[in-house]
Amino acid sequence: MTRSLGYLNGRFIQLSENVLPLEERGLQFSDSVYEVVKVYNGVPFTLPEHIERLNHSATSILLDLPIPSEKIMEIAKDGISQLNMDHGTVYIQITRGNADRNHEFPENSQENIIMIWKTGLAGLSGTISEGKSLITVPDERWSNCFIKSTCLLPNVIAKEKAVRNGFYEALFIRSGEIKECSSMNIFLVKDGIIKTPPADQSILNGITRQKVIEVAKRAGLVVLEVKLSMDDVEVSDEVFITSTTKEVVPVTKVDQFSIGDGKPGETYKLIHQLFSEAIEEECRAVIELQSD
Ligand code: PDD
Repeated sequence: MTRSLGYLNGRFIQLSENVLPLEERGLQFSDSVYEVVKVYNGVPFTLPEHIERLNHSATSILLDLPIPSEKIMEIAKDGISQLNMDHGTVYIQITRGNADRNHEFPENSQENIIMIWKTGLAGLSGTISEGKSLITVPDERWSNCFIKSTCLLPNVIAKEKAVRNGFYEALFIRSGEIKECSSMNIFLVKDGIIKTPPADQSILNGITRQKVIEVAKRAGLVVLEVKLSMDDVEVSDEVFITSTTKEVVPVTKVDQFSIGDGKPGETYKLIHQLFSEAIEEECRAVIELQSD
C-alpha cells in the first residue's frame, strides 16, 4: 500500500489537509517550478542535481526560493526518515504564493514550498523485455522547455493522446526535429553510436539523461548530442527513453515504424546495467557516509 506525507511552508501534513487558499499563483497561473526525485533504499538519488535544476528553473522565472537549497535537501531527507521510506518519490514544488488574481507578480506575497513523499514505487527495475511504443505529436509547448515549470498542459494532453491510442508515450516534434517525450528524454542508437537531441532551451535537460550520457561515455561509448528527425528514428537500430521515475525504457515502435528487430537491443541492456550500477554506487556511498 502506498504511504504518503506532505509538507507546506515549515509543517509536515497529511495530503488530505486543506491548506492552501483558492487564490494561489501555482493553481491559477501555473506560476511555479518543481522536481521529482526518486528514492532508493532510503537515499534520494541525485538530490543535489535536482535541487540545482530547481534553482535554475526558479531563477529563470524570476522566483526566489523561500529557503536555502541545503534546507530543502534537509527537509526532503527528513520526510524520507519520517515515512521510513525504502523506495519511492519526493515531489518538490515552489510557487509564487498566495495573492489576489492579477497577472503581474504580487508585491508582498510569500512563496509556497510544497513537498509530497510517496512510497510504493518499485526500487531499481530489471530490464524490460517488451519494448514500448511512441506516438509523434506536434510540439505545442512554449520555447522555454528547459524550465521545469508546472505549465504542463501540452504534456498532459500529449500523454493522454498516446494512452488513448494505445501508445506508451508521446514524442514531441518541433520544426521537423524530435525533441523529447511528454515526461521523458529520448535516445537513438545507430551503428553503435548513441544520439540524443541537444539540451538547448527546447527540452528539459533530464537528470537521468545527463547520468546516462555520463555512464555511457565513461564506458567508452560514443554519445552525440545532435539535432535529430524522424528520418533518424526510422533507420535507428534502437531507441530508448529516460526519466527519474521510469529510469531507462526501451522503445521498439514509433508511430507505424518498427525499430531495429522489434526487440529491446544490446545498447539498451548495457545502458540499463550501467545506470543501475550508478544508482547502487551513489546509494552505497551516501549510506557509508551516514554511518561514519
Ligand atoms: N518528468 N522531459 C520532460 C518534459 C519531463 O517532464 C521529464 C521528467 C524528463 C526527464 O527528466 P528527469 O530525468 O530529470 O526526470 C524529460 C518528471 C519525472 C515528472 O514530471 O514526473
